[in-house]
Amino acid sequence: MDTKILHVDAGAGYDIVIEPDVLDAAGERIKEALPKAKRLFLVTDSNVSPLYGPRLVASLEKLSFEVHTHVIPAGETSKSAAELVRLWEWMTAHGITRTDAVVALGGGVVGDLAGFAASTVLRGVDTVQVPTTLLSQVDSSVGGKTAIDLPAGKNLAGAFCQPKLVLMDPNTLSTLPDAEFMSGMAEVIKYGCIWDRDFFDFLAARPTRAALMADIAHILRVCCDIKRLVVSQDERDTGLRMILNFGHTLGHAYELAGKYETWTHGQAVAAGMVTAARLGETLAVTEAGAAERIMAVLTPLGLPTHIPCDFACMEKAVGVDKKSAGDSVTLILLEKIGVVRPLTLPKAEVLDTLRRMTEA
Ligand code: NAD
Ligand code: GLY
Repeated sequence: MDTKILHVDAGAGYDIVIEPDVLDAAGERIKEALPKAKRLFLVTDSNVSPLYGPRLVASLEKLSFEVHTHVIPAGETSKSAAELVRLWEWMTAHGITRTDAVVALGGGVVGDLAGFAASTVLRGVDTVQVPTTLLSQVDSSVGGKTAIDLPAGKNLAGAFCQPKLVLMDPNTLSTLPDAEFMSGMAEVIKYGCIWDRDFFDFLAARPTRAALMADIAHILRVCCDIKRLVVSQDERDTGLRMILNFGHTLGHAYELAGKYETWTHGQAVAAGMVTAARLGETLAVTEAGAAERIMAVLTPLGLPTHIPCDFACMEKAVGVDKKSAGDSVTLILLEKIGVVRPLTLPKAEVLDTLRRMTEA
């Protein structure tokens, strides 16, 4: 069995288990991690439920867990206050107690919503994350950020609540639509850019989904390893963790420009990484040629390297960026591929440089 286990030193500490078909061994894994749990509250979405729900439930029931299942509509709109209230009411109607646990089976939407519901119901019950998208496997299931969206913006209400276990079955990615797979790839490439030049080159040598899937367990392990190291040092996102936002400030501008419909998050991050590398090159912080190298990895995967965006969207994204403070903003730039370099600059200077780059 090709099993990889990584330990995250955050919260009470927990394991990430990366194992093909771990869905069928979930009962044993959860029993081991949460010996007191009797009832499991499984949250999944309308796409994932028919694909993987029955296998997961069978594995849990084999270990005599009492399993209750709640299916949310697939899609970002489910990360809402209304859906959160429905989850709380469903859990309490079925008599959830503090020793029970919530199991989130699905992508980042299910993980964020179910994680937030678990962190608040009865003032907090345990969570097990079972991520089924590439993005959720390499990013959202690890690190304990949970949230819902509010009318004013994404992820505006949430909590830090580390899971007790993350079970990652790489085989679930076989049913993922191409667009979702590639969206996750933008985050995968990000890890190479900020942390690991060898990994970046490894990805560059695998320009198709088939080639990437042939080594997917290794890819998941490298990404989760980087994420766990970062989160272990900065669980509450007050310092180092901001490096995970490489490409995201401008990515948010692109998402905004497309009214959150035209571009997936991953597409926006892909183009955002290229612009951040160009910005770094313009500011003489980033080694010349880095943007070209990132483009050469993104292009064969069909990820955009440029997204048209009017200056007002850039201004807004820089203005509301969570790394901004007063008149300054911390940009996540690269020194070179594999070496990240956060840099705090006056917002006016950043915007002026971006304006000149846009006009050039
Ligand atoms: P998602 O959860 O909406 O999943 C994408 C689509 O794929 C959905 O339609 C889903 O039903 C479907 N799907 C999921 N697994 C599948 C499978 N194995 N086969 C077929 N279809 C499948 O989106 P996502 O990209 O996984 O997550 C995006 C969310 O994650 C956003 O809300 C974002 O804010 C959040 N996020 C959170 C963090 C964090 O640290 N908590 C980090 C990054 C992103
Ligand atoms: N996705 C960024 C973080 O977890 O901090």
